[in-house]
Amino acid sequence: MVFTKLLSLGGLITAASAATYSLSDNWIGPAFLNTWTHEAIADPTNGRVNYVDQATALSLNLTYTSDDTLIMRCDDTTVLSSSGPGRNSVRLRSDKTYTTHVAIFDIRHMPQGCATWPAVWETLESDWPNSGEVDIVEGVNDVSPNQSTLHTSSNCTMPAARDQTGTAGSNDCYGGDNNNSGCGVQDPTTNSYGPTFNANGGGWYAMERTNSYISIWFWARNDGSVPFDVSSGPAQIDTSTWGEPTAYFPNTDCDLASHFGQNNIIFDLTLCGDWAGAVYNSDGCSGDCVTYVNENPSAFSNAYWDIGFVRVYE
Ligand SMILES: *[C@@H]1O[C@H](CO)[C@@H](O)[C@H](O)[C@H]1NC(C)=O
Ligand SMILES: *[C@@H]1O[C@H](CO)[C@@H](O)[C@H](O)[C@H]1NC(C)=O
Ligand SMILES: *[C@@H]1O[C@H](CO)[C@@H](O)[C@H](O)[C@H]1NC(C)=O
Ligand SMILES: *[C@@H]1O[C@H](CO)[C@@H](O)[C@H](O)[C@H]1NC(C)=O
Repeated sequence: MVFTKLLSLGGLITAASAATYSLSDNWIGPAFLNTWTHEAIADPTNGRVNYVDQATALSLNLTYTSDDTLIMRCDDTTVLSSSGPGRNSVRLRSDKTYTTHVAIFDIRHMPQGCATWPAVWETLESDWPNSGEVDIVEGVNDVSPNQSTLHTSSNCTMPAARDQTGTAGSNDCYGGDNNNSGCGVQDPTTNSYGPTFNANGGGWYAMERTNSYISIWFWARNDGSVPFDVSSGPAQIDTSTWGEPTAYFPNTDCDLASHFGQNNIIFDLTLCGDWAGAVYNSDGCSGDCVTYVNENPSAFSNAYWDIGFVRVYE
């Protein structure tokens, strides 16, 4: 629950602090195999991947779980025919949908390498963009921008000046403008993405969605200021104690309640495609992106997610 609650205490009406939530879902290891779905769909972003179903992912060991770990990777052993399907990869979607909530992600490793485009995000694929899209973290080709972004239907913009540690790019969230680049905020730290994130043991991302604002935070693994709420999974959390977010999207010029509906949580790893492919050379990767993916399986040995947990509070 999010907004100011009025508590009646002995006849006094007191405005209590907002931002307290209770744990509703706690996914660790094998739990991801029960209430999440491997989406064996054509990649909507036109990547050089072949998303496989759960049985295939498990049998190829692209998806692997232990008591405290979920690994999801793309194939790193097969040379592909240029006329055949793309590299086998995984796209994992929660079966459950959420409106206002907090989601916390403990990520030890994210896919890295030229051509990679990993993302953790929330949307409702069957009603995009009307149900909104929150990209909690995504990036391409190991480089910038490593950002958190909203994509929406029309009439949703962000104020230029706002209380966040990140740097805003475009403030127009409408997917129909600017080739659907959305309103992104770049994380100010280099250890929030890619090889530097991985070398540091990863960290935690958290997203709070209310009808007044959407906030995203990042704490590196060795950041002593990570809240106990985030690292330790208590039954109740209070986001008002977490400090200034990395990205802050207020409802000043965007009615969040009408631009965001019931959304699933999604992890994916695509290769090349609309973003990673378009900037592949300008990001310092050589040759042709699709050819590179086809011919160099071993280049993808570090293209994997290692997830400690996903917790959702409502
Ligand atoms: C499957 O992948 C996991 C995680 O990378 C690894 O620890 C395990 O050894 C692999 N299993 C096989 C049979 O290759
Ligand atoms: C994104 O991450 C890479 C790799 O860690 C880093 O070099 C780059 O500076 C980051 N970009 C931003 C905008 O934080
Ligand atoms: C949108 O993409 C097209 C094709 O890639 C490009 O020509 C155009 O310049 C882009 N427009 C913007 C506003 O980025
Ligand atoms: C755009 O959104 C604002 C609220 O942010 C609302 O007052 C206005 O009516 C909307 N305009 C249209 C054309 O829907």
